[in-house]
Amino acid sequence: MLQKNISLKTYNTFGIDAKASFFANFSSVDDLNTILKERENRKLFILGGGSNILFTKNFDGLVLKNEIQGFKIIQESENDVVVEVGAGMNWHAFVLKCLEMNFGGVENLSLIPGNVGASPMQNIGAYGVEIKDVFEYLDAVHIETGKVKRFSNQDCDFGYRESVFKTNAKGQYIICQVGYRLTKIHKLNTSYGAIKMELEKQGVNNPSIKDVSNAVIAIRKSKLPDPKKIGNAGSFFKNPIVSTQTLEILKQKHPNIPNYPSGPETAKLAAGWLIEQAGWKGKTYDEKYGVHKNQALVLVNYGNADGDEILKLSNLIISDVYQKFNIELEREVNIL
Ligand code: FAD
Ligand code: EPU
Repeated sequence: MLQKNISLKTYNTFGIDAKASFFANFSSVDDLNTILKERENRKLFILGGGSNILFTKNFDGLVLKNEIQGFKIIQESENDVVVEVGAGMNWHAFVLKCLEMNFGGVENLSLIPGNVGASPMQNIGAYGVEIKDVFEYLDAVHIETGKVKRFSNQDCDFGYRESVFKTNAKGQYIICQVGYRLTKIHKLNTSYGAIKMELEKQGVNNPSIKDVSNAVIAIRKSKLPDPKKIGNAGSFFKNPIVSTQTLEILKQKHPNIPNYPSGPETAKLAAGWLIEQAGWKGKTYDEKYGVHKNQALVLVNYGNADGDEILKLSNLIISDVYQKFNIELEREVNIL
């Protein structure tokens, strides 16, 4: 069952050529429990689509690739529907399936790479919507006992790019299926300025969920590098959340600093703006890796960079932004 010494290059969107000492995939909870019994004391890493990780060295342990499929309707009323989806399903394929069935709620999250199982890990979000807005429950196998536990929306303790699986329950569970509550009578979210502009550009007056999805896809394609062409893991850093007091101090020096309300006493800043202002946008090293020319929040691998070079670049950016703005950027990508 366990394969040995496997290259992970095609399993991560950064395209880093790290090796796993052991590798296995599973497509059911029973398969998974069989593998867990063969695990011995090996260190584990659960892999989805590999679109939010940076390998900085070989992985001396067992990489487990989740390939559990499935899409079923669990509950349905006139207004909404609960669907249960296998963690190994590709996220965008799931979004397309919802659009085909005219189920709303995930259209703003179109084209996010990766798989369903990772969507609650960091409460994926884009264009005004986060997974917590549609999340109903998930079932996860506890690694030590093999028992399945159900987590409600509240149990997951979602925050901006955060969940319990990155804090108190870190490294303890393997997510196997996720339930989402989707609409049959839709409430479109076009509050994000770029969506409104794109719909106007396309001449759409009375948008459907499919129109919103198409607008999001067009915006994303114009900004973000396609990992099939240029290695990357999306935003490398989180957008920093600061107190309104800190924002006022920053505004005195930088009156145009982009900021968005994020709570009663806090504001979210645009990390991409801070990195661009600090002069990093488009920087390239040895034609191998660098900061993307259209989106300063995205670090890229043009070919043969190793993960450590990209990690070092991220450290330089963190300390430079700190020196210039007194703000400490936090990485969004998981470093291994
Ligand atoms: P992986 O990278 O395989 O894993 C990520 C983490 O989750 C790892 O710690 C892994 O161990 C854990 N994990 C994965 N599956 C499971 C499981 N079944 N059980 C337990 N743990 C698991 N993210 C956004 O939120 N919004 C965006 O707009 C966005 N845009 C992106 C654009 C690009 C071009 C790229 C490359 C990435 C983008 N991302 C975005 C980041 C990424 O797509 C998401 O974080 C995605 O959810 C990662 O899914 P994955 O299956 O690839 O996870
Ligand atoms: N900006 C710049 N220069 C840049 C990039 C951005 O000045 O090079 C400024 C601009 O002012 C722009 C603002 O930042 O208006 C916001 O940029 P954008 O709309 O591109 O979004 P973002 O804040 O950079 C976040 C998410 C993305 C998500 C988009 C859309 C984080 C860390 N990133 O990016 O998520 O797709 O909003 O909602 O929250 C990801 O997590 O991997 C990801 C791509």
